[in-house]
Amino acid sequence: MIVVTGATGNVGRPLMELLGDKAVGVSRPQVDLARPVTLEPVLEGAEALFLLFAGELLGPDTDIAAVLDVVKAAGVRRVVLLSSQGAGTRPGMIPHSRLASFEEAVRQSSLEWTILQPSGFFTNVYAWAGRGVAAAPFADVALPFVDPADIAAVAAVALQGGHEGQTYVLTGPEAMTPRQRAEALSLPFVQQSVEEARAQMRQFMPPPVVDGTLTVLGSPTPEEQQVSGHVEQVTGRPATRFADWAARNAHAF
Ligand SMILES: NC(=O)c1ccc[n+]([C@@H]2O[C@H](COP(=O)([O-])OP(=O)(O)OC[C@H]3O[C@@H](n4cnc5c(N)ncnc54)[C@H](OP(=O)(O)O)[C@@H]3O)[C@@H](O)[C@H]2O)c1
Repeated sequence: MIVVTGATGNVGRPLMELLGDKAVGVSRPQVDLARPVTLEPVLEGAEALFLLFAGELLGPDTDIAAVLDVVKAAGVRRVVLLSSQGAGTRPGMIPHSRLASFEEAVRQSSLEWTILQPSGFFTNVYAWAGRGVAAAPFADVALPFVDPADIAAVAAVALQGGHEGQTYVLTGPEAMTPRQRAEALSLPFVQQSVEEARAQMRQFMPPPVVDGTLTVLGSPTPEEQQVSGHVEQVTGRPATRFADWAARNAHAF
């Protein structure tokens, strides 16, 4: 049996659909990773765990060692950690440094591990839904965002074994700018100032996460702008194009 944390999230939902009755999905209040003991009952008899730390869990209080102790004590063999590309490209910068330290803890554990380092998610554009306009900073900075369903597809394969000790960088098939994403959704584009974007993002993200995200969006490294082939390598099919995702999800905008 496979246990999926973050089962209500952007990656967890499609992952649960792919795994079907092979998996049990958990989220709060049943399992709160800020209180690792809450994982104990759901891990009974589990072989593999999909693990993610989102939102406030990227703060300094999360005890990954305690989480991994519970996982090992339950006899779980395999863990697939959802991290972020920033953990590899910016390991010294908050919040990427938090994910880098979680990655290190997983690599040093006695578990079979696979680490997923995705670029920004296509679903981040839901911030534009219902507004009739796409407002973003850094209008012409291109990044190869990825479909969370592709991350889920890679996770579904890795959770079933054969990918131990691998770190996969997961991107979409092409780098696109915010202006081009707006065009694909047939939305008029409005350039936001960095301050406007920061204020908007702070409504649903902790401040260090906002600042770390804005740095990547505005000043990506060459590595962060590159397309990776890992989605296709693991799943056997190409990564989803934003245009195709947009066509399927246009109704939400
Ligand atoms: N969004 C991006 O562009 C992006 C890019 C790269 C990497 N990532 C990484 O991907 C992961 C998911 O990102 P997201 O922001 O898109 O999240 P998300 O899909 O909105 O999902 C967050 C999930 O985490 C669960 N969760 C939150 N706090 C929890 C807690 N204390 N205990 C247990 N579960 C908890 C939520 O469940 P409930 O609220 O239902 O409890 C929800 O299912 C994060 O680790 C993020 O760093 C995101």
